[in-house]
Amino acid sequence: MSNQQALLEQFQVTFSPNDKKTRLFFAPGRVNLIGEHTDYNGGYVFPAALTIGTYMVIREREDGMFHLASTNFEQKISFSIEELSYKTEDDWGNYPKGIIRELVDAHVSIKGADILFEGTIPNGAGLSSSASIGMVTAFGLAALANASISRVELAKLCQRMENHFIGVNSGIMDQYAVGLCKEKHAIYLNTMTMHAEDVPLELHGHKIVITNTNKRRGLADSKYNERRAECEEALARIQKEMPSVQTLSDLTELELPTIENLIADECLFRRAKHVITENKRTNDAKEALEAGDLQLFGQQMIGSHVSLRDDYEVTGKELDSLFDAQRQVNGCVGTRMTGAGFGGCTVSLVKEEAVLAFQDEVKHKYEVETGLVPTFYICEAGNGVHEIQMEVQG
Ligand code: GLA
Repeated sequence: MSNQQALLEQFQVTFSPNDKKTRLFFAPGRVNLIGEHTDYNGGYVFPAALTIGTYMVIREREDGMFHLASTNFEQKISFSIEELSYKTEDDWGNYPKGIIRELVDAHVSIKGADILFEGTIPNGAGLSSSASIGMVTAFGLAALANASISRVELAKLCQRMENHFIGVNSGIMDQYAVGLCKEKHAIYLNTMTMHAEDVPLELHGHKIVITNTNKRRGLADSKYNERRAECEEALARIQKEMPSVQTLSDLTELELPTIENLIADECLFRRAKHVITENKRTNDAKEALEAGDLQLFGQQMIGSHVSLRDDYEVTGKELDSLFDAQRQVNGCVGTRMTGAGFGGCTVSLVKEEAVLAFQDEVKHKYEVETGLVPTFYICEAGNGVHEIQMEVQG
């Protein structure tokens, strides 16, 4: 947990005072339990919010200027409301800047602000640090402007920013989870209809353990866009003969032989197959959780990793090495990569009494295999973006 008082003090020394109120907001990161690379294919996802995330101290300005600082980065960024364009040299500042631009385009009345961020999610870990900084900025600025924009609308606005301003064609899962998840629950979301259900995370003596490969996700964005384009191409080939199919998620496993012929490309078929089988696993996993059958939930997680490794090809040496080591630990009932892949983290379901042995065994094997040291994080499912009430005058 970040030291909120220290963060407020840091804010006061970073920016010159004015008579506006200083406010504090928080947006979590997220871990996806299952339902990977389905959200841009109209499929199901099942993420939970974390209790680590991004804190934002903010105070309004009247002069049309934005001054951004972060306790994680040296670089401070300043720009006026008249110049909201992407600039490579603005680095991390492009995320909040893109959000400000989306809010201005949505006619939210913003006059300027001093903002200090503090992120407690490791960057590049696949735990949605970018959706977290995006959503905290959007939610906080909308609150300052008294704008009535729903959390779902804010999530869509953040997704647009990521797609158009940053240039990553991500789906809605991360922003939705960061915006709408509830403490001790996961969200089961149909990304086609946007129908969502909060499912209690009753784990019956198990813990959700996140393991970071600590491998930076180089090339992840371009590979991500490549996968998305492959799915679009597979869908277009199917639609030539089956025009009523709107997304890959309209299809079932029974139709795999038919679409294999229509797609007529071995690699593109495997991409589509992953999406179709992953939707089934996600639905089965949700039902298993509701029935208290954690073993069955774990089996779906393992099936998911295998499909992401063999059919979707987004795992890589480090994630596969963690997966192999984790599966062998007594008391680990399920494990898989989580997020976009190409590095980042795994998520595992581990019996409480086995958590320490899990960490020891996995650390040892992973280090021998890869030369990297993994880090572990026991996940508590937290709340979506919110204001932290503090009586502080700037
Ligand atoms: C990233 C994207 C999400 C989703 C996952 C993969 O986290 O931001 O929209 O596609 O990858 O499931």
